[in-house]
Amino acid sequence: MNVLVTGGAGFIGSITTTELVSAGHKPVIVDNFSNSQKFVLDNIEKITGKKLDFYEIDVRDTDKLHEILKTNNIDAVIHFAAYKAVGESVDNPLKYYQNNLDGLLSVLDAMKNAGVSNIVFSSSATVYGDPDTVPITENATLKPPTNPYGATKQMAEQILRDASNAHGLNAVLLRYFNPIGAHPSGLLGELPIGTPNNLVPYVTQTAAGIRNKLTVFGDDYDTPDGSGVRDYIHVVDLAKAHIAALDFLDSENAGVDVFNIGTGTGSSVLEVIQTFKKVNDVTVPYEIGPRRSGDIGTCYASAEKAQKELGWKAELSLEDALKDAWTWQQNLEK
Ligand SMILES: NC(=O)c1ccc[n+]([C@@H]2O[C@H](COP(=O)([O-])OP(=O)(O)OC[C@H]3O[C@@H](n4cnc5c(N)ncnc54)[C@H](O)[C@@H]3O)[C@@H](O)[C@H]2O)c1
Repeated sequence: MNVLVTGGAGFIGSITTTELVSAGHKPVIVDNFSNSQKFVLDNIEKITGKKLDFYEIDVRDTDKLHEILKTNNIDAVIHFAAYKAVGESVDNPLKYYQNNLDGLLSVLDAMKNAGVSNIVFSSSATVYGDPDTVPITENATLKPPTNPYGATKQMAEQILRDASNAHGLNAVLLRYFNPIGAHPSGLLGELPIGTPNNLVPYVTQTAAGIRNKLTVFGDDYDTPDGSGVRDYIHVVDLAKAHIAALDFLDSENAGVDVFNIGTGTGSSVLEVIQTFKKVNDVTVPYEIGPRRSGDIGTCYASAEKAQKELGWKAELSLEDALKDAWTWQQNLEK
């Protein structure tokens, strides 16, 4: 399949392009480098041994996108391009609504005009908010969003459903839990700009001495060790879920379908820190701080639907992910 990957120079997009090549597909990347760097494209080439087609454009440029879809005979789109920092979305909501929603509308418009009807969309477990029960299944009630980033994901899901009803679009919405790790080569991974919001980049930067100390936000949650529990999914497993989603769309599954992409197991913040220290033999100084506003105690996926219908399940462990994250961090400093 010829697959347009928007945001293909980013963390999840870059690793997904390498998996697309391994699976025999032809990825075409678009990115505007608003949250990525050009060396990523060279590293994709090093891993795949292929020079991929790339266009430096903003996905809000509908005419260019349309032309790219036509010229490259695109069969399906994987739409990663969006902003993703929760805190920044609170301070600058318009920037988030504009990029994440105008971006999606532009992609859908270009697809409609070019006659491309299959899309895989990056949604997030954030749409569930504080869940009533765990593991969270796909039909759990969505809670009112607590920040503009989460709101863009809920609105995007609605836009995709409406476009499917009206224009015959086929969409797979993947609700990612907590993507971590890096490509095992150490050549592709997350590039947090400024202070990381997420636990694992904070852990790797603390281990590397870039940060003095990690703060564990709360040790009084109703969890086995009191720290927050999340479903950490290796980014390579997550990337593979996109290939399974494309196959699912290709086998004439029409309409909109939604899948949790997680491991089905939760790990606590303290467990992540201990595991990181153990597998990498490094120290990570940390202190216990107060709970962070908006954080929830426990969140992990039911991954059964993805296994049953997509034939996909997570195969890599927390240990694998934390080892790969550390290799990536060390390579970044070279
Ligand atoms: N990383 C996570 O923890 C996580 C969790 C759930 C969902 N998601 C979603 O997955 C997707 C990918 O996330 P990621 O972690 O790879 O993020 P990322 O920031 O590393 O990658 C996004 C890429 O999109 C590009 N981009 C952004 N806006 C663009 C635009 N208007 N035009 C062209 N390119 C644009 C950026 O330059 C970047 O390369 C996002 O939609 C994000 O919301 C991520």
